[in-house]
Amino acid sequence: MGLVGIRVIVFDVYGTLFDVHSVFQKCDELFPGHGREISSRWREKQLEYSFIRQMIGSYRPFDEMTRDSLRYTCEQLGVNLSAEKERELLLAYLSLSPYEEVAQVLEQLARNSYKLAVLSNGSPSMLYPLIEHTGYNRLLDDVISVDDVKQYKPSPQAYTYGLDRLRCRREEVLFLSSNTWDITGASTSGFRTVWVNRKHGVFDHLGVQPDASISDLRELSGVIKT
Ligand code: 2OP
Repeated sequence: MGLVGIRVIVFDVYGTLFDVHSVFQKCDELFPGHGREISSRWREKQLEYSFIRQMIGSYRPFDEMTRDSLRYTCEQLGVNLSAEKERELLLAYLSLSPYEEVAQVLEQLARNSYKLAVLSNGSPSMLYPLIEHTGYNRLLDDVISVDDVKQYKPSPQAYTYGLDRLRCRREEVLFLSSNTWDITGASTSGFRTVWVNRKHGVFDHLGVQPDASISDLRELSGVIKT
């Protein structure tokens, strides 16, 4: 068994291709002893802000929410976020480390003639520098930000926009994310999905399951059948 007829592979960005917690070192350098906590609370709050803004219909770009969630996190932890520290941390977000296997797997998929793209909640001002610092722009056919339609994943409009941009049929697309809420959104919107379960977690109980689960992108070749 395997997923057949896939021509287009679409990746989520934060947490799927890039390790958002690679800002940990910078956080720890600026706030000794608090690095781990800041990095994890920052990410949680960033996502929470995107969900809330989507629900209340008050879109703001992801770079702004990334800044606001950092401010909240530092205030909550009682550490002083100077303008300089804020600038340094937001800059670090533009050069997050990719997971170790990503380049090799993207190259292999591109060689095998798959059309490759990312679909992210990230605003272009954060997404493009991130993709460019690793050179993945050479391998990707498209870098799609939901900022164009101002609808955050997991709303159906965000995924449908991705499809419009890629000019292909839904059945040809495979969507990959390490974020369970993202897989739930894409599956509900009719896409075939693979959950990149990097942390060996459990999947949400929301009545939707991915078509397959892998622990990192190297296992993708065992899931899709040409
Ligand atoms: C994304 O890249 C935020 O991880 C999410 O869309």
